[in-house]
Amino acid sequence: MQIQRLVDLEDYEFDTLLVTYNHKNRLSIELGKVSEIFHSLQEDDLVGGSKVYGLRGKDFSYQGQPYYNLIFIGIPEHASPRRFQLQFGAALKEAKKLKGQNLLMTAIGDDVSYWLSSAMKGILLADYSFDKYHSDKKEAPELNLGILTGVDQASFKKEEQYSRMMASAVFTARDLVNEPANVMTPEALAEVAKEIAEKNNIKCTILGREECEALGMGAFLAVAKGSKQAPKMIVLEYNGRVTDEEKIALVGKGICFDAGGYHLKPSASMKGMHGDMGGAAAVIAAIGAVAQAKLGINVTAIVPACENLVSGKSMKPGDIVSSMNGKYIEVVNTDAEGRMVLADAITYAIRECGATSIIDIATLTGACQTALGNCYTGLFSNSDDLAAKLVQASILSGENIWRMPLGDEEYNDLNASSVADIANCGTQCGAIAAARFLHAFVEKKPWVHLDIAGTSESEDDKEIYSKGGTGVGAMTLYEVVKLLEKPYKSY
Ligand code: BES
Ligand code: MN
Ligand code: ZN
Repeated sequence: MQIQRLVDLEDYEFDTLLVTYNHKNRLSIELGKVSEIFHSLQEDDLVGGSKVYGLRGKDFSYQGQPYYNLIFIGIPEHASPRRFQLQFGAALKEAKKLKGQNLLMTAIGDDVSYWLSSAMKGILLADYSFDKYHSDKKEAPELNLGILTGVDQASFKKEEQYSRMMASAVFTARDLVNEPANVMTPEALAEVAKEIAEKNNIKCTILGREECEALGMGAFLAVAKGSKQAPKMIVLEYNGRVTDEEKIALVGKGICFDAGGYHLKPSASMKGMHGDMGGAAAVIAAIGAVAQAKLGINVTAIVPACENLVSGKSMKPGDIVSSMNGKYIEVVNTDAEGRMVLADAITYAIRECGATSIIDIATLTGACQTALGNCYTGLFSNSDDLAAKLVQASILSGENIWRMPLGDEEYNDLNASSVADIANCGTQCGAIAAARFLHAFVEKKPWVHLDIAGTSESEDDKEIYSKGGTGVGAMTLYEVVKLLEKPYKSY
């Protein structure tokens, strides 16, 4: 999509006008007969409140003149950055439905700096499709977006560049999730990570089965051994502030397919399990953006990538495996594989990479999806500070996060095992049990766990989403790293 800043309408021919209206049903601009049309639509209850409504120019005329497409965008009072994204995303979807190509919107008023980048992000994010496997697809013409604004060129460019960077990180993550498991194998995922690393001056190390064995990653390898696909521990290191001893580890679950193992998933739950690497996709995309923006901070992304399948080599219920941390894990449920691979990745982050704080992100539990649905990612943490930073980052990114309790010793028996140090499957409150399992491996480092089982996939094409991967986490991780970046000190 082309975006241009307009200071007047000369030379810009548009076919689709995007107009916002507020909670008092007042249009942001009065242009020609637009408000008359708006009010007539209101009488039929078609617009009003916070609806996004499109009207096809070809289908109506005004006093005998054919008209351009009109899209009315409701903006509720005190709209959050997320709300702006969703409303403008919905508007873009509407514009495409109306076959608009040259869009015009206005960004005028005191509060523009509050919402301009959210609107841009919403429009860009909504313009995504994963259609590479439709051999008869028609190339959709590129859209032009003209923004009539008083914002100066430098600020405008900055907002645009930032919005584009976020959208492109999200698309990277979505593409990774949307690829089927026969294409996006652990090896393929490692290749993509390597390419992104090479483009952005990031150090990339990929550990194979033997190297992981030598490090004692018994939990990761126990999951991996049921598949013919070779496991890969993917490590991306970006050191943007070498004088700083702090290093954030971003750990993303990279299960390229989760059949459940011997605790085989029923058909309906197995659907979409090629996307069980949504956490991996988010951390890879985020570190790419962090490096692209040259943030002054040290970040390492770690992805334990493998498949969880059934075979004569698979782990079995009741197996006891030793983790890199030293703790023995009883495999009570082979379908609770995510926490096992993450445990070794977290230990690797602490012991081999020198991580001083850890953020993990994973499509970890159906229980979290049940608790929060599809609009909120669950957050669990041992650090109020880091948790607050993530919530702050999520407001900037527009990706909803809700903090859940980790609980204390009271909940220790959730993962109690009679035969080993810890069981990989809890007895109740599944999302907390999974979080507490990971907590047992963080060695008291400040840590946040994001459970994206509910938010990683979208059921339909709506607002900023397209059916399939949402790319959730990529933007929030970028924002949190940016918040944690310290102001430059000269010594
Ligand atoms: N990958 C799944 C979790 C999941 C569920 C992701 C739905 C996306 C959508 C995870 O590995 C899993 O199977 N979790 C089990 C844990 C249980 C066996 C303790 C679950 O949630 O049922
Ligand atoms: Mn599973
Ligand atoms: Zn899984």
